[in-house]
Amino acid sequence: MTSLPRLERSGSATLLLVDDEPFVIRGGELGNSSAERAYLTPFWPRLVGMGLNAVVAPVYWDAVEPAEGEFDWTTVDELLEDAAAHGMRLVLLWFGSWKNSMSCYAPGWVKADVARFPRARTSRGVPLEILSPFAAANRDADAAAFAALMAHLRDVDDESTVVMVQVENEIGMIPEARDRTPEAEAAWAAPVPAALLEALGRQETGTWTEVFGDSFATEEIFQAWAFAQYVQVVTAAGKAELALPMYTNAALVRPGAQPGQYPSAGPLPHLAEVWRAGAPALDFIAPDIYFPNFAHWADAYVASGNPLFVPEALRSVDAAANALYAFGKHGAMGFSPFGIESVEGNEAAMIAGAYDVVAQLTPLIAEHAGDGTMTGLLPPADDMRTPHRTRLADLVLEATYERVPAPSLADGVINETGQAAGTTKLPAAAIVIRTGPDELVVAGIGVTITFHTPEHGPEVVGILACEEGRYAEDGTWERLRRLNGDQTHQGRHVRLEPGRFTVQRVSLYRYA
Ligand code: DGJ
Repeated sequence: MTSLPRLERSGSATLLLVDDEPFVIRGGELGNSSAERAYLTPFWPRLVGMGLNAVVAPVYWDAVEPAEGEFDWTTVDELLEDAAAHGMRLVLLWFGSWKNSMSCYAPGWVKADVARFPRARTSRGVPLEILSPFAAANRDADAAAFAALMAHLRDVDDESTVVMVQVENEIGMIPEARDRTPEAEAAWAAPVPAALLEALGRQETGTWTEVFGDSFATEEIFQAWAFAQYVQVVTAAGKAELALPMYTNAALVRPGAQPGQYPSAGPLPHLAEVWRAGAPALDFIAPDIYFPNFAHWADAYVASGNPLFVPEALRSVDAAANALYAFGKHGAMGFSPFGIESVEGNEAAMIAGAYDVVAQLTPLIAEHAGDGTMTGLLPPADDMRTPHRTRLADLVLEATYERVPAPSLADGVINETGQAAGTTKLPAAAIVIRTGPDELVVAGIGVTITFHTPEHGPEVVGILACEEGRYAEDGTWERLRRLNGDQTHQGRHVRLEPGRFTVQRVSLYRYA
């Protein structure tokens, strides 16, 4: 057996290494009830066809531990076998104590025994379909099952089919920000733990309201600390059996919602420090990005030094664009549209196109991740009227985006009017990698870029040469054609056509 999948820091990014090589996850997450062989079998060719190299798939606590201490690994083993048979890795999701706040995947013997396995309660004392994180019995039952899963993987998964594991799924407290069981109330009245105060750099001591004030935000910090400490025990128990990279994910916050109105206290950016201090066994936290402001949320998750992996993303044509942004801008470990087995037609074609680009560029992405020489371009707003300006060291890129097919006026004409040749809205995004001072790899769809060096006075940056081609599996560049004339606006821009993913190698030159 080679070494286990592991994470390795690379500048400001983090790489996932599988069989000691960088592995960039071109993923897709299965629908919640789609991970059983009998149902999933016909969908594997579609997953392969979209160019996935990993499937993000749930493991159900109620299915694997139908009676306490008695495990049935059939669903897991079949998933492992079928993934391997299709050349696919797995990221397994532990649907344990919590799934979208609720505890619907807890086995019947847990659900039915509320005396032994207490539920969270509202301020009126009403029990919720949420296991209380303040109950040691809940935590220990979950940790024992998760440890058994990881021990089983250690025994059967010699080929590292499983490369990463998500602990729980979208933990969150709702419809109030904190639990009111007697144990929770006692913790609320007690002093804030010193470890949390230290992690947050707080000098004061006292109860939660004394330190943080009496607000819903304080209740959320309190609840997040409880969730994180619970997840810490579960994660550590699993890692003690098999130390794969582990993370947990969050449902994001709608603008204006207050703690309690959204699934609160999960691993959200504003609670990153609480989670890091409470659950140090986790390698990172991850966002499920369904909102249209993808870049905002991706950026928020890396702001605190957290590596980026997007286990769930909205399945639309924009998924293809968002994937390129995640890999280009943040050297992401992976990207994964949700409900991947249901993706068809144009959306599937676009994901396949984006993943083909990512597959070709994987060695370059791994080489340049986190070193400041790579970026991702995504339209910052639908109605941008000025070029989108971004920089790679001294080189400024000005990008415009084409989200509709160009009318067939003449070769190389940009659809500046926005007049659609069809009604289909197309993805627009690029990965740009500066492989040398004047050498670039530009890949993607629907983006036109000009280059500038404003700090170099009157210097103008022109296109010396531009080629369209593809990187072969052994990394060699195979030219398809030289691009010039209309295709580069007579040497003044690089254009990735709308509706078609291309990879281009560009040499710049400067004159003054
Ligand atoms: C987010 C959850 O994490 C998924 O399991 C699934 O329920 C999706 N939402 C559905 O949109």
